[in-house]
Amino acid sequence: MSKESSAKIKFYSGEEVPLELHKVRVVQKLHLVSIERRLEALKEGGFNTFRLSTKDVFLDMLTDSGTNAMSDMQVAAMMHADDAYAGSQSFFRLQEAVEAVLKKKYLLPVHQGRAAENILAMAYIKKKGDLIPMNYHFTTALAHITQYGGRIIELLYDEAYKIASTHPFKGNMNVEKLEEVIKETGVENIPFIRMEASTNLIGGQPFSIQNLRDVRKIADKYGIRIVLDASLLGENAYLVIQREPEFANASMGEVIALMTSLADIVYFSARKLSSSRGGGICTGELAIYKELEALVPLFEGFLTYGGISVREIEAMAVGLYETLDETMISQSPQFIAYLVNALTEKGVSMVTPPGVLGAHVDAMLVCSHIPQTQYPAGALAAAFFLISGVRGMERGSISNQRDENGNETYADMELLRLAVPRRVFTLSQIKYVADRMTWLYENRHLIGGLRFVYEPPVLRFFMGGLEPVSDWPEKLIAKFKEDFGDSL
Ligand code: F0G
Repeated sequence: MSKESSAKIKFYSGEEVPLELHKVRVVQKLHLVSIERRLEALKEGGFNTFRLSTKDVFLDMLTDSGTNAMSDMQVAAMMHADDAYAGSQSFFRLQEAVEAVLKKKYLLPVHQGRAAENILAMAYIKKKGDLIPMNYHFTTALAHITQYGGRIIELLYDEAYKIASTHPFKGNMNVEKLEEVIKETGVENIPFIRMEASTNLIGGQPFSIQNLRDVRKIADKYGIRIVLDASLLGENAYLVIQREPEFANASMGEVIALMTSLADIVYFSARKLSSSRGGGICTGELAIYKELEALVPLFEGFLTYGGISVREIEAMAVGLYETLDETMISQSPQFIAYLVNALTEKGVSMVTPPGVLGAHVDAMLVCSHIPQTQYPAGALAAAFFLISGVRGMERGSISNQRDENGNETYADMELLRLAVPRRVFTLSQIKYVADRMTWLYENRHLIGGLRFVYEPPVLRFFMGGLEPVSDWPEKLIAKFKEDFGDSL
């Protein structure tokens, strides 16, 4: 596979521009509705961007999950899918791709990433209080672990919690603490160690291969398995090549293979990893496969489709091979870096170094006048949609779950995530995002807090409803009109 990347293409002007190494062949029309309609939409959706309808959204930066652009080859592959309940050739093509790219022989297909988390938690959390050490949680992973009576402990280094940092690998697991935790807890109470590639909730921050090797050493010393969440593995591998000198000349394939070889079980959301649908759990050990095998037909579907349509399985297979293409994987991180740098220059506090998946705005600082009890990241997400039509995602206290006593657990970071799915947006759209966020930053004092009016007991951020604590949205609209006139 080629090692070319647009990062290596220099402009004569010296300007650093992320150049698209693809062309757009199928397009979807977008609409930018009026600011008054955007306020209506927010009211209808409980000031929760998950509940907006895309007819009201201009740029959808909610997530990259299932929204990355598909390649022509993926779409073509979907046409020769093999419809069969059992023994489908589409599944065998996927299995081949998993073996070629992730280097794991056994594959259990599941309908998406959280289904893999459900199966792993069900299979391995045997008693109440079992502890899963991890670099950091992801919402659905945590929900499944606690659902089966387990607990988690997050073992990042302090640097990871600093918003502005130059540390290349904020997703690294604190290995000294890991060993302490194992000694205190006892190996019999630790079903596995979870490592998440490109740690999502701290701003899409990678771990280094050296760190994974160190975790592996400890896991081997105590006989504990490592489960790797590979949903954002390609991007983590790309940043390893960029930032870890030992791998500067390595290929994507080599780095990915090394990372997966250090884990006993690898699971993924194909909605992210291979820009399609579905998910999977894979392993090189037959014994592990056998421990999990029975749960797939019970919850997902037969072992050769796992709840995924055969067409999507074909797209997954091709998408996995494409993960080895640095020009494809590098596109989103480069756009993110462009956006982060543009906003940092304007004084907006952003998670740095720029990570993957999206640009992350530090709502704790941008909305420092809003107390955490009034959800600054949720408020910033709503305000930004109001003034731009751009839909981001709250990744702060609203995304946290209450503790077992029903108390709020405030997030370590209050972030507004502006996802940049692969090969979806143009650079002028990214410039629009930077422009409107700069305006909002300069008028941040006008943003007010939110309070819950409807709070579901599980994963409340998805369907929860909130309302503004004052008439701040109307004040923001008035200022917008003053500055932009009749511009949308
Ligand atoms: N693990 C990670 C690291 C993820 O980012 C996600 C999903 C999952 C697991 C769950 O996978 O959605 O297929 O069930 N992240 C999406 C996001 C939802 O927007 O960050 P899923």
